[in-house]
Amino acid sequence: MPFANVQNMNWPATIDDFAAAFSIIESEGVQGYVNGGAGAELTLGRNLDAWDAIEIRPKALAGVGTRDLSTTVLGASEAHPIVVAPVGFQGYVHSEGEIGLAQGSVDANARYCHSTFGAAGFTDLEDIDGLRWWFQLYCFNDHGLNTSLVQRAEEAGAEAILLTVDLTALGHRDRDLHTGFILRGNRPVACVAEVGLADPRLAPVWASLDHDLSWATLARTIEDASVPVLVKGILRGDDAVMAVEHGAAGVIVSNHGGRQLDTAIPTARALVDVVDALGGHGEVLVDSGIRKGVDVAKAIGIGATATMVGRPALWGLGVGGREGVSRVLELLIEDYDRALALIGASSTDVLSPDHFTLPD
Ligand SMILES: Cc1cc2nc3c(=O)[nH]c(=O)nc-3n(C[C@H](O)[C@H](O)[C@H](O)COP(=O)(O)O)c2cc1C
Repeated sequence: MPFANVQNMNWPATIDDFAAAFSIIESEGVQGYVNGGAGAELTLGRNLDAWDAIEIRPKALAGVGTRDLSTTVLGASEAHPIVVAPVGFQGYVHSEGEIGLAQGSVDANARYCHSTFGAAGFTDLEDIDGLRWWFQLYCFNDHGLNTSLVQRAEEAGAEAILLTVDLTALGHRDRDLHTGFILRGNRPVACVAEVGLADPRLAPVWASLDHDLSWATLARTIEDASVPVLVKGILRGDDAVMAVEHGAAGVIVSNHGGRQLDTAIPTARALVDVVDALGGHGEVLVDSGIRKGVDVAKAIGIGATATMVGRPALWGLGVGGREGVSRVLELLIEDYDRALALIGASSTDVLSPDHFTLPD
């Protein structure tokens, strides 16, 4: 474990400082696995630039002395619009792995998403008091396995299923090729092991991923689920409309944090198209490059109901396990609160396109 005794350490002051500390603590391989992106990492950088390119038109004298960060996502009340994105294989980042990530989310009143490839299983999540979570599904060729995963997730308390659709092939991540980092094939995939697959080791499980995803895959997942299904990895308005027409509760505008297809459109720009196309039918969440309170405010103002963060939570996990995760999330939540004040919005609800200017 990177820091055995976190009690006495000085916590990094900013999210960027967490990122810098993470880079010092972690091996080059793990750092590259978390921080890297596909190809020349153009989308990775453009995700950040696109949020920055949206300018703010703050309202003066707007009476923002007390602010209400809360919102409603899929019919449930959330203390703030920041959700922890699903990230697999966190055992590499910290010995607490997904348990620390989930517990840190609870501490920060944030909803947690659990990856199919999380190192923790459904039973581990059931044991975490106060956890509010969604399950992220990667589909396998064996449809029975997909059905079992969805059913077991729901039984364990998942309140939505996130069907990830942007892994039709694994992105070519140059950093991993250079550092030689590979996910080890002998580790069992906890959630898959729990639903009774004969050989739940990573290598065979990974080899049985369904890369031939289609609208029929979504229809089947919706049929399997009795909770809402969100489609994660949507970057076009027409696809968002198709998803909702097939019965999805909404979409997550995501390019997987720039990890899959280099030069894919940054999500801040795709979000505009998706919100416009859906016209209020179905929920829209967004991730990829959210690092600051103003990024959250911009996403909500453009029309997202919530934002998700991947790497920032992992930087917190790597630096200090559960406590590091909650520190990072608290920094982001505080920054969002400050952003609301300075933008002149007294609540999440009042943010609107009128507060922002989109680049041409
Ligand atoms: C190390 C790592 C592992 C990830 N694993 C998954 C996964 O198992 N399933 C998934 O849907 N997305 C996965 N993602 C993508 C995230 O859910 C999310 O879309 C992305 O991290 C958001 O971008 P950000 O890191 O810039 O916040 C992963 C991302 C990272 C950084």
